[in-house]
Order: sequence, then structure tokens, then C-alpha cells
Amino acid sequence: MSYRLSQPLHIGDVQLSRRIVMAPLTRMRAQQPGDVPTEMQARYYAQRASAGLIISEAAQISPQGKGYMATPGIYSAEQIQGWRQVTQAVHAAGGKMACQLWHVGRVSHHSLQPEQQLPVSASALPYENKTTIMGEHGEPVRVPCDTPRALRLDEIPGLLETYRQATINAREAGFDLVEVHAAHGYLLHQFQSASSNHRQDAYGGSLQNRARLTLEALDRCIDAWSASRVGIRISPLGLFNGLDDSDGLAMAYYLVEAFAERKIAYLHLSEPDWAGGPQLSLSFREGLRQRFPGVIIAAGNYTVAKAEPLLEAGLIDAAAFGRPYIANPDLAERLLSDAPLNPPRPELFYGGGEEGYTDYPARA
Ligand code: PHB
Repeated sequence: MSYRLSQPLHIGDVQLSRRIVMAPLTRMRAQQPGDVPTEMQARYYAQRASAGLIISEAAQISPQGKGYMATPGIYSAEQIQGWRQVTQAVHAAGGKMACQLWHVGRVSHHSLQPEQQLPVSASALPYENKTTIMGEHGEPVRVPCDTPRALRLDEIPGLLETYRQATINAREAGFDLVEVHAAHGYLLHQFQSASSNHRQDAYGGSLQNRARLTLEALDRCIDAWSASRVGIRISPLGLFNGLDDSDGLAMAYYLVEAFAERKIAYLHLSEPDWAGGPQLSLSFREGLRQRFPGVIIAAGNYTVAKAEPLLEAGLIDAAAFGRPYIANPDLAERLLSDAPLNPPRPELFYGGGEEGYTDYPARA
């Protein structure tokens, strides 16, 4: 049986060997202080290089963009140097890699912010849930997110500049692509959603205004490199991180039309069912495909059985696998040969060292 997932795919300027993608996965193991990826991350990602494309764990584009302990950044010279080791190891193992550019907005805590400042968002409305900070012994500790302060209009150019600079940094670090994280209730999504954006300026109110920051951030990344090197992730109709996307369908259609006009490298769809939401309907998938003729990577509880008919129907072009990649460095080979998967150890997902990170065996 030869699966469509085994076929090659062009994404912008990048040639992928197969249509299996490693989804971005937060692991909270960056070196402290400085949120720097090291040799350990290089080993972890290189072990997974048989994916057609690896999308990095989300990397904050500025100190203010951080919302969890020990997530890596992509703004300092040390971080760029650290990521360079990672991309070299992945390339040496035959893989390709995108850097996911992240600003968490209000999903943060002042202890993670520069000078213990309040996190920022579209409006001063809290995410009433928890994030993860580091305990005394380096262990993850859950704490409530702070109520953010609203970004001032005069701060937006500086924020957009951090997207541009992060793209330049990612390119310098040897990544093949960048992916703008506009999903999952983080900053760009906080602007998109009327439930978290009560602004009355050009960035709030109408759907077009709420989409503005996402598109301006995307345009800065395109300007810094090339549309053929930039993808974007959205999570329409998802409830993760507390956003009520009541006009999520209209927003998704509006955004993907704008992405198509720009001829970006790919659209990465994080489907709601990974975080307990409903499955996307066929009509919604068809609506997306009509509006976005480019490459669609889809993520969210994928299996070979879920991916193949959607590939066959031309509704997606590649499938991304997240949690199964944690325990299976050779997931691509396993999926393509119907081999059994290693069981994960969820208590080791976040924080710590090599254990539960680089010690999962590939099949002989
Ligand atoms: C997480 O840390 O749980 C996390 C981070 C980024 C995402 C989703 C989840 O996009």
C-alpha cells in the first residue's frame, strides 16, 4: 500500500520529500538564562528529520512575546546561534525546518515578562486560565495568567518590527521557512476575536480591523524574506486558550483570501478537534480550498486514515502530526509502514532534560 503521505511536495521554494509534517510542539527545555536552544534540541529535531518538514516549537519573537517557562526565543544572537546548530543537524539528516514565530499576548505572567511588566493584548481582558512558570527546582508550576494591558496604537509599529526582525533572524539561523503563529488564542488571534478585542481604533471593531494586525505581521515577514518562504497558522473554530470565535468562519474565509492574494508558501490549519472541539465540516474545508489554492497543511488528531481521503480529495496537501512525534522520532516511517507506535510519557512533555525528549527509540 502506497500512501499519498509518502509523495513529495513543493512548498514555496522548498522541496519536501513527503507530506508528513512534524507539528510545532512546546517542550520548555531551552537553556536558562536566555531561552537558548542547544545541542540537546539539535539532537531531538535531527532524530525527527525524516518528516518532510519539521515546524519548530513556537519561538518568542521578543522577550514580551514569552508566556511559558523555558520556551526558546528567536531574537538574541545566542538564540540565533543555538538555532543554527539545530537547523544544521536537521539538514545534515536530510530534513527541512520552519521556525514558528510566536507572541503569546495575554497568555503570560508578569514573572515571565521583561522587568515583571504586565503582558500585552488587544484589550485589557484576561485569559481566565493558567500558564506555566518555573518552580524553584526548575519544575513546571501552573499559575493564573495576568490581566494584560491593551497595546497602545503607538506600540504597534514596534511590535510589527519584531516580526520582521525575527524573520531575518530565522533566515540567518538557517531555517528553510518561517511560520507566523496566528492561532490558539495567542496575540494575533486575540486581535482577531471579538471576545478578546474591544478596541475602537483601526485594529478593532469590524472583522477587517480585527484581522489587520495578523496581515500586517504577515506582510512584515514577507518583506523581510519572500512570500515563498512564509507560512501562517490559524485555528478557525477552535476554543483553545479561551477564545470564543463566534465569527470564526467568516474570519477564516477573509484571512485565507488575503493569504492567497499574497501567494504565501503555505496555510497551516490547526483543526479544533485536537483540543476537544468539533471536527471541521466538509463544506468548511471546501470553502477554504476554494479561497486558498496554495499548499494547505492540516493538523489536529491526524492519522493516516484521516489524512488519506482528504489528500485524495485535494482538500489538504500535507498532514502535520504533533503529539505522536514526541514518542516516535521515526513517526514518518512508522506511519508509512503501518508499524506500531511507542507510548508517550506525558509527565515528561514539559521541562526537564533528555529524559522523555531524546530517549524514545526508533525502530531497528
Ligand atoms: C502549549 O504550550 O501548550 C502550546 C503552545 C503553543 C500552541 C499550543 C499549545 O500553539
